[in-house]
Amino acid sequence: MAIEPVRTVHAGDLQVGDVGRCVHVAGWIDALRNHGGVIFIDLRDASGIVQVVLNPSEISIDSHVVQELRSEFCVAIRGTVRERIEGTVNPELTTGQIEVNGIEFEVLAPAKTLPFQIDDRADVAEATRLKYRYLDLRRPRMAANLVARSRGVGAMRRVLDDAGFLEVETPTLVVSTPEGARDFLVSSRLRPGQFYALPQSPQLYKQLLMIAGVERYYQFARCYRDEDFRADRQLEFTQLDIEGAFWDQDDVLTILEEVVVEVVRALRGIDLERPFPRLSHAEAIRRYGTDKPDIRFGMEIIDLSQIFVGTGFRAFRQVLESTGVIRGINAGNLGLSRAGLDRLVEQAQELGAKGLVYLVVEDDGSLRSPVAKFLSEEEQRTLSLELAASPGDTLLVVADGASTVSEVLGKFRIELGRPEGYEELQCLFVVDFPVFVRTADGEFTPSHHPFTSPIDISEMRSNPEQALAKAFDLVLNGLELGSGSVRIHDPDVQAEVFDILEIDEEEAEQRFGWFLEALRYGTPPHAGFAIGIDRMISVLQNEPNIREVTPFPKTQTGGDLLTGAPGWVTDAQLQDVGLDVRSEVKAQWG
Ligand code: AMO
Ligand code: AMP
Repeated sequence: MAIEPVRTVHAGDLQVGDVGRCVHVAGWIDALRNHGGVIFIDLRDASGIVQVVLNPSEISIDSHVVQELRSEFCVAIRGTVRERIEGTVNPELTTGQIEVNGIEFEVLAPAKTLPFQIDDRADVAEATRLKYRYLDLRRPRMAANLVARSRGVGAMRRVLDDAGFLEVETPTLVVSTPEGARDFLVSSRLRPGQFYALPQSPQLYKQLLMIAGVERYYQFARCYRDEDFRADRQLEFTQLDIEGAFWDQDDVLTILEEVVVEVVRALRGIDLERPFPRLSHAEAIRRYGTDKPDIRFGMEIIDLSQIFVGTGFRAFRQVLESTGVIRGINAGNLGLSRAGLDRLVEQAQELGAKGLVYLVVEDDGSLRSPVAKFLSEEEQRTLSLELAASPGDTLLVVADGASTVSEVLGKFRIELGRPEGYEELQCLFVVDFPVFVRTADGEFTPSHHPFTSPIDISEMRSNPEQALAKAFDLVLNGLELGSGSVRIHDPDVQAEVFDILEIDEEEAEQRFGWFLEALRYGTPPHAGFAIGIDRMISVLQNEPNIREVTPFPKTQTGGDLLTGAPGWVTDAQLQDVGLDVRSEVKAQWG
């Protein structure tokens, strides 16, 4: 007979106060034990777990049904809540003091033998987890990540709604515009041979909304970028996208602080201190070797160039003569063998440095190093002083072009200095990014995006390489959570930026003419930002990879192992949209 209604209470909500109640619970069999014919079931639903007891003397169940019963069957039980007998209380469960004594039992749906245990401790290959994502999401850690994501997004929404922001949706079938990454293209039956692009972000639409008088906009925007995978990147991801009219940098940073503080309060139950520290881009690079520093620990990069002016050590002298720099870190007591230290040198070279000097501080303060003999006593003494050396420390010094030195020492700093299992949270804003950076082929490319306002327009004209932008990043524990800027609202300045980027007038007109036109109708000054939701939630959940907080992520090669996307389509479908897949491409995929 069917139990009706199938459920009257949630498993995880049951408390001692419910003892004596007749309840209907339903969910999945998390664990099953048979103690001499008495069946104990840990029954799990989205709210938690409660123990159910099926005692053959009090309930009639077909022995055949009992034999077939397995983990993850979906079942329902009618029973009475009772206190557990002494000695069987489980302090690890919120419902650990009580159990449901079954009177009626029903299998709602059996489950096949599972490809893996629904258990956080089970070590399961990621490909298997992704293929059976619906089972993977039943695991407590993954279920908690889904909950955290929802709560985090809820907190963001609360702050912005309370502050009078308007949530506006923007299209996901858009025109292809270059924003850094490659676009995903979408064909259309109505316009065979033409393509929409999926948005990399709603950047230009939100600027249009400012022109439209919206003034304070937000959206949880799905963004699509056909770019290379990393632990913190997916092909599709979600941004909290915001924009405000009559805003300057401080207005953006203030609302961001409110949002972040509220999300952290919701997920971690702590209040972050405000304001968040601010560091200029140049200082971040100089002191930490990166534009997204983890400032929870020291081991800062120290400039040592002055010490070695006129040095007798050829490698250092040559670098200083060719406008390079010499910088170092005190990596602390590494206790590495000679081979371990030599491995660091190799690592530095793999990162593109000419070399790495290591010096180990002896008990008497002297420096042990293969190159010590090339350094004067005075140089060694000042070096030790500048790097605050004490016995046992290992000092690492690199001489090279400034960007190589930053990259190498920045990486060593993280690798050697970041304490393990470091849960503390430290936000900061990195401000004053350059307007442009040079690509490997020497061309200018926007350091943020081409709609970012320079701090000083005349400087951008005269010295584009050095000019700084009103652009800023939010960094949490060494990860870039988001980026934003004050925008260009003057169409002539916008045209100048296109010009510096060597987008000629005709091309600019063709690609952005509609946007330059819009800027000519009384555009208010405006600024905004986007936070990567996946990244933010992954840090707050201590997850190393955003896939763990993305409900249905793609693999490294862009595949969805569950559904098989992307896949081939029929010739008729291709014909509809005016396309043909080259036979050699088809052959590649078999
Ligand atoms: P940006 O391109 O810096 O700025 O993106 C903002 C934030 O989005 C997240 N993010 C990603 N997350 C997962 N996978 C990806 N492939 C990925 N790419 C980016 C990051 C990043 O910091 N329109 C501008 C924002 C603005 O100026 O308002 C923009 O999209 O957390
Ligand atoms: P060399 O004189 O090139 O044999 O180098 C002697 C030592 O100095 C080796 O340990 C190199 O790794 C190191 N070294 C060489 N060039 C640099 C450099 N630019 N910066 C730091 N260390 C270097």
